[in-house]
Amino acid sequence: MVTAAFLNINFDIDKRARRLIESTVSSERLERSRRYHFKEDTIRSLMSECLLKMYAHRRFGPAFSSISLIYNEYGKPLLKNHPDIHFNLSHSGNWVACALSDKPVGVDVEAKKKINLSLAKRFFSPEEYGFITENPEESNDRFFRIWVLKESYIKAIGMGLSCGLDTFCLIENGRISRQAIHKGGTKPMQLESRRIDERYWAGICYDSAFRSIDKLEFFDQEALLGYAASMQSAGLK
Ligand SMILES: CC(C)(COP(=O)(O)OP(=O)(O)OC[C@H]1O[C@@H](n2cnc3c(N)ncnc32)[C@H](O)[C@@H]1OP(=O)(O)O)[C@@H](O)C(=O)NCCC(=O)NCCS
Repeated sequence: MVTAAFLNINFDIDKRARRLIESTVSSERLERSRRYHFKEDTIRSLMSECLLKMYAHRRFGPAFSSISLIYNEYGKPLLKNHPDIHFNLSHSGNWVACALSDKPVGVDVEAKKKINLSLAKRFFSPEEYGFITENPEESNDRFFRIWVLKESYIKAIGMGLSCGLDTFCLIENGRISRQAIHKGGTKPMQLESRRIDERYWAGICYDSAFRSIDKLEFFDQEALLGYAASMQSAGLK
């Protein structure tokens, strides 16, 4: 099964609400979130872990409100005591995303902005560059769709940017493929891109044992605060 949750953030958060969110996250996350220079990065970081806990709790029950994380050699976080449950986080602008699956999964959210096509030429394959530039009116959307899918793939396999974005191509017969096949010959992974709102694209990459994403859910900050308040009053973390 593959599901993903998207949380819309309002950065205008008061002290009480911020403390509530802080009370749900690990001391490691709290410490890390305080190191950011910009308030927005701190809020995104706190909300990411809180979203993971809320979403895992909703799907798998209360034991997931107190999860511990471990990291692979490339920094991908994994659930310490639940090797059969995989997750991935992404944050950009006022969106935070969390994907959950029984097998490795990756998610990426990006805000669409005016792109410089030389970036596409530099980081993408010639086929991908051709696809992006063949229709100037669609270039921006095509760039971001390919970008989030590539990022979701390198995050699903857990290598992050250590896996070059040009080591796999997502265009097949002139269209975006539903599968990513790495030149190294690892097994194919499934890909789906979704427009989250007018400005944001999300890419989700999951194991080819699954045919499609089972559920996408959207939450607002009130839902997260409600979860945090219920955890606090139950004395759970
Ligand atoms: C992972 C990476 C692709 C993130 O991309 P991004 O678009 O900047 O950020 P996103 O918001 O989409 O994702 C960030 C989240 O991805 C997760 N993440 C971090 N490293 C990851 C990896 N290797 N694979 C998958 N997910 C990873 C984290 O949960 C992180 O959020 P958090 O820090 O709040 O927990 C990029 O930063 C990267 O490649 N990092 C690894 C660098 C590396 O190889 N280091 C070597 C360590 S020795």
